[in-house]
Amino acid sequence: MPASIANLLHLAHRFVEELSKPFVGREEEARAIALAIITGEHIVLIGEPGTAKSALARRAAELINARFFKYLLTRFTEPDELFGPLDINALKQGKYVRITRNKLPEAEIAFIDEIFNANSAILNMFLTIMNERILYDGYNEIKVPLWTMIAASNQVPDEPELQALYDRFLYRHFVKPVAENKWLELLDAVWKIEAGYYIHAEPLLTMDHIRSLNKLLFEVDLSRIKEKLVKIYAILEDHGIHVTDRRKGKALKAIAASALLEERTVATEEDLLVLKIIAPRDKDEAEQVYAVLMDEIKAAERYLRELAEIEANIREAKQYIMSITEFEPRLVDYLRSFEAVRDKVRRIAEETSDEAIRRRALDILAEIGDVITLIRRKLGI
Ligand SMILES: Nc1ncnc2c1ncn2[C@@H]1O[C@H](COP(=O)(O)OP(=O)(O)O)[C@@H](O)[C@H]1O
Ligand SMILES: [Mg+2]
Repeated sequence: MPASIANLLHLAHRFVEELSKPFVGREEEARAIALAIITGEHIVLIGEPGTAKSALARRAAELINARFFKYLLTRFTEPDELFGPLDINALKQGKYVRITRNKLPEAEIAFIDEIFNANSAILNMFLTIMNERILYDGYNEIKVPLWTMIAASNQVPDEPELQALYDRFLYRHFVKPVAENKWLELLDAVWKIEAGYYIHAEPLLTMDHIRSLNKLLFEVDLSRIKEKLVKIYAILEDHGIHVTDRRKGKALKAIAASALLEERTVATEEDLLVLKIIAPRDKDEAEQVYAVLMDEIKAAERYLRELAEIEANIREAKQYIMSITEFEPRLVDYLRSFEAVRDKVRRIAEETSDEAIRRRALDILAEIGDVITLIRRKLGI
């Protein structure tokens, strides 16, 4: 790996570490935000008040030297507050122009708190700004530099008119309050935050770094996980969890970004865990998706365990078989059971999407072949 790429990946890794540093149990959230930023997608953090959603978004913006805009939405927020007021002088000449300085149309990273308070005027502007990076207010279309919107909300929106907005967030992360076994840690962490220990984070990376990381995404080798990904989509569908076509496709970018965050340029099964923040619509689905992922991705671990066991058995059997000098009827049973094991290992080699496991299975197959030949020789067949 060239040094420039290694440095870039290291920087991305450090961003996650630095982002979660002041908080207890917010590593997953920090990773989710990093995924959104590397992929240039939007993320919404959903959870009860006081779970550090705003604090995380604020810190993410500080760590990136980017043009930042933040706003807390209420039902009564007017488009002008977000997109800038109309230019009266221009209006006198019959032109409809917004003064966008320091407003959302100039931001690269935006944090919108209580996003689902958006009223219909704002909603429509959000939809095009998020999808097409164009601000359209009925009169003008202007291209905007928005890269990632980080949003927060206490709950998943039920209103039908908010569903399109909800779907614009590739990442939907459900933030849980800190678990009881970490409450002591929480006290100390909040104490430090309140004492002003982390008032401002020094910028760690620039938009140029982020754009380079984003380009690198498309160099990640995804060949090992694609089939598994499709299989997981099918399982989720069987569980009644429907992932829209847009999200199905875009998930690949998240998987690639997950590999980059681990400083790899090859995606492996564990990167599929990002589906946990892409596939579910709500908290219940998030639990279900997680269970499916654990089952499917743990398959790799299960295979490794099985293969290790088979290897140990082969070693033991080999010793025994070697020690036999005359005809032994038990060898026939051995032959049968090794043929069955051979089929099993073949299946593992075919099914796994993990190259290391496949190679190990193939090695073991060769060993089993040797043992079978040995038994046949002893049996004189
Ligand atoms: N997991 C945590 N670790 C450390 N501090 C936390 C944590 N959760 C909440 N806090 C503290 O609570 C404050 C309020 O969090 P805030 O970001 O406003 O929550 P939210 O936006 O989710 O309502 C944070 O600034 C921080 O001091
Ligand atoms: Mg908040």
